Amino acid sequence: MIDVHSHILPEFDDGAKSVDESINMLKILKDQGITHVIATPHFKMTDSKKSIDDFLIKRKKSYQKLISEIEKQGLDLPKIFLGAEVLLTMDFVEAMDKNRLCIENTDIMLIELPYYEWQSWMFRMLGDLCKENNIVPIIAHADRYVDFVSNEMYEQLFSLGYKTQVNAEFVCDKLAVKKLKKWLKSGQICYVGSDAHGIDFRPPTFDSYFNKIKKIAGDDFIKNIEIHSAELIEKLENK
Ligand SMILES: [Fe+2]
Repeated sequence: MIDVHSHILPEFDDGAKSVDESINMLKILKDQGITHVIATPHFKMTDSKKSIDDFLIKRKKSYQKLISEIEKQGLDLPKIFLGAEVLLTMDFVEAMDKNRLCIENTDIMLIELPYYEWQSWMFRMLGDLCKENNIVPIIAHADRYVDFVSNEMYEQLFSLGYKTQVNAEFVCDKLAVKKLKKWLKSGQICYVGSDAHGIDFRPPTFDSYFNKIKKIAGDDFIKNIEIHSAELIEKLENK
């Protein structure tokens, strides 16, 4: 099973604060049957091309620091793939060489939507971004916008047919369950992520939520998650 959304890299964003914390997060994920993790540090476009370059250099350094400690200790932990959690902004749409933020060398990009009521133009912008750059988006944590976004706008999002990710903890959020209920059976929610930020704050928890998810969303939902997880692992392993 793959965790498609995590802030596992040390000293990078608001995720793991040290190599030790990253390793402990990976150990917790491994204990829950996670074999692969995509590191998805936050990316927000701030300064044309430079910010993508800076991000990639910083990500490489953080990753190498973590990997060399894992190797030094001889630990057997989930395999890490490199990606980003890219915030959809106009600046990003206009940036050059955006595909470098896709997961490894694939065409898949984890895209975070804005935290305010969505507008139709935003979906057109997202559609153009993906079409013009051959990007296959995974919409990050559909459950985390429910406080700001209306049912009508969720309808528009899901009508686009993109694959979507939810955080495992969504089952404990009554409003998220209510707003997403219709799509839990749609097959479009293909990935469950931890969106883990640390050991204490938003820890990498899956197990304790899965029984609840199964009850609320049904066996087919879990099966769909497992199928997409296996397909993504295969794609990333063979990239
Ligand atoms: Fe995140």
